[in-house]
Amino acid sequence: MDKSTEFSEPTSKNGEKPTDSAEENTDKKESLKRHRENPEENEDAPPNKVQQNEEHATVVAAHYNHLEEKGLKERFNSPIFYLRNFNNWVKSVLIQEYTDKIREKDYGKALRVLDICCGKGGDLSKWQKARVERVVFADIAQVSVQQCETRYQDLRKRCGHLYSAEFIAADCTKDTLRDKYTDPSISFDLVSCQFGLHYSFESLSQARRMLTNISECLRPDGYFFGTIPDAYEIVSRAQKSDNYTFGNRIFNIKLLFDPKEGYPLFGAKYDFHLEGVVDCPEFLVNFQLFVKLAAEFGLELVYKARFADFYKDHSEKYKQLLHRIICFESYPAPPGKELIGDAAEYAHAHKFWEELEDKKECDRIGTMSVCEWEVATIYMAFAFKKKKPVWDADGKPTYKISTEKSKSA
Ligand SMILES: C[S@@+](CC[C@H](N)C(=O)[O-])C[C@H]1O[C@@H](n2cnc3c(N)ncnc32)[C@H](O)[C@@H]1O
Repeated sequence: MDKSTEFSEPTSKNGEKPTDSAEENTDKKESLKRHRENPEENEDAPPNKVQQNEEHATVVAAHYNHLEEKGLKERFNSPIFYLRNFNNWVKSVLIQEYTDKIREKDYGKALRVLDICCGKGGDLSKWQKARVERVVFADIAQVSVQQCETRYQDLRKRCGHLYSAEFIAADCTKDTLRDKYTDPSISFDLVSCQFGLHYSFESLSQARRMLTNISECLRPDGYFFGTIPDAYEIVSRAQKSDNYTFGNRIFNIKLLFDPKEGYPLFGAKYDFHLEGVVDCPEFLVNFQLFVKLAAEFGLELVYKARFADFYKDHSEKYKQLLHRIICFESYPAPPGKELIGDAAEYAHAHKFWEELEDKKECDRIGTMSVCEWEVATIYMAFAFKKKKPVWDADGKPTYKISTEKSKSA
């Protein structure tokens, strides 16, 4: 019998990454190689901000477009199996929490959602479980958006009734999404941006455009929530490392700017590699700045937590879901199975297990290898509430938001 209701939280302090599978093709490899060799410059022309931005968007879109969908068997054998499931747990909890908040005020309301930076539709079935009415999916990677649509159609065939949906391939840091909606007057109850917002922190104008897309059609009292890498965590780990590079057997992060010259507010680029899944440059999100910018768009911070704290905040309420989607590995390994990592990665679990009272020979605990947990704890979750606008003399919306209050959210 598995006594997997006991969870032993890894003691290491660290973070996570969204997932999906990847096999690179030659184009993508070339594109990434060019980017690595000369990250700040365009090959054929003198350095130029516009070209750099376009180069970066191309690299990101190419990377995600070429991620292959992995089958169930491959996913089971993945070195980040539990990490991937844990990320899905965080996203499911966020979706559940904020759909519930809307329903608490307006039970029975038909919910409309924008899933921005949707990728291949990792959250398609989460929206189904949340019983929403309509979802607009948007992402820069055209192939991913097509895969998202195909997966949506498959889900629809399987379950009969499903929310209605539309699919938009667009650079959400440069394009106006509203111009692309079937109904530009649509009003969203929820906007979700999972593991994607940090791409907009390449420049102020891109972050602004992203926030405009997020906020423009979000109704007052609606919620914007998501997940991003925690810049504070990345910077503190990088500062403790050689050459501002750190990682373990499954991930690696390298800062691509010199922190001795300070931390840029935008364009603070780093390379992120996650074994077999992600290999892409990203940007640090200065959270205080993000909160200030969001306030300009009527968004008030109501929740923020690093994943380790998010787990503490929600693990009791969403315990069953943790089990159902297998977020933790059984320790010791059940007969005939091997642990995903080396024995040393389970020292915390071993200690916890040894100290268990009434331990029967077959009892097991649920845990995560230190390597996976070090990735999981790089990330943080956040939520903002859209405020009601006050109209100024020129007919422009203004919002009364205290960013001081937000600090304690
Ligand atoms: C890590 S994936 C997350 C996908 C999905 N939200 C999930 O949780 O499974 C990040 C996504 O952000 C998208 N992205 C990056 N830059 C973007 C941009 N400028 N506009 C729209 N999407 C972008 C990528 O194409 C990718 O699909």
